[in-house]
Amino acid sequence: MYHLVMALVEVDRISKSYPRRAGLRTEMRPVVEDVSLTIEAGETLGLVGESGSGKTTVARIILGLVEPTSGSVRVNGIDVAQASRRELHHLRRQMQPVFQDPYAALNPRMTVLQIVTEPILIHGSEVGLDKRPGALRAKALELLREVGLEESALARHPHEFSGGQRQRINIARALALRPSLLILDEPVSALDVSVGAQIVNLLRGLQSEYRLTYLFISHSMPLVRYLSTRIAVMERGRLVETGEAEALCAAPREPYTRQLLAATPELPVGVA
Ligand SMILES: Nc1ncnc2c1ncn2[C@@H]1O[C@H](COP(=O)(O)OP(=O)(O)OP(=O)(O)O)[C@@H](O)[C@H]1O
Ligand SMILES: [Mg+2]
Repeated sequence: MYHLVMALVEVDRISKSYPRRAGLRTEMRPVVEDVSLTIEAGETLGLVGESGSGKTTVARIILGLVEPTSGSVRVNGIDVAQASRRELHHLRRQMQPVFQDPYAALNPRMTVLQIVTEPILIHGSEVGLDKRPGALRAKALELLREVGLEESALARHPHEFSGGQRQRINIARALALRPSLLILDEPVSALDVSVGAQIVNLLRGLQSEYRLTYLFISHSMPLVRYLSTRIAVMERGRLVETGEAEALCAAPREPYTRQLLAATPELPVGVA
């Protein structure tokens, strides 16, 4: 069941189609077609492609939120679609999503303390985490410090924060159960340029500190290039090119990849 060469994530020939009206008939339209990729522990795989190319659908299939029409996904050797309840719990803890809209993901009625410790209340016992109020508060404080927020944030509500701070709260919550994999779907696209750059640099720091594995999804090649060890390029539902980040950017094989590389950097990353 367990072998040493196994990648953390193994995506094997997944496809997904959605029904679409075509005149009087309904036809199935493929939005992801025959995508295979692996994500090795500790790396950042950048998934890049223009809007509508199928990136989020791939992310949601990996997370087990969308069922593929065909193909399979294994995380840590467990088939996401066939996992038992127990295995699914285990997977949910190990991989955590961070999405584009930093506000939508936060319950407006909850305090930051409640938001970042909720995963511990739900899953904490399974990982032996202490759920008593004092322990939860200490844990929340530790998480906030990791993402650069202060203790005063604990009692406040999401609307009291800026977009960048809200994304920090989302990241703190995603880290609560010490996952090994973060699925980052356009985590800075909704933010101002300089705020986005700070979040990107925070993600870099967290990765090296906690040996996290990232699937980093973006339409911005400069951003993906800055963060990724390997890059997978999606065009209209298909993977058209995959390779080591520097090699792929230095010598892209596909015209589509070249086109993405010609885009202007939107974030002043790397100049901080
Ligand atoms: N639930 C759904 N039902 C029908 N069509 C869908 C559904 N989800 C996604 N699609 C379609 O699938 C295609 C790929 O969408 P997806 O969100 O995966 O792309 P994306 O690369 O993440 O785009 P963006 O950069 O805009 O986030 C789009 O044409 C979208 O309209
Ligand atoms: Mg998307």
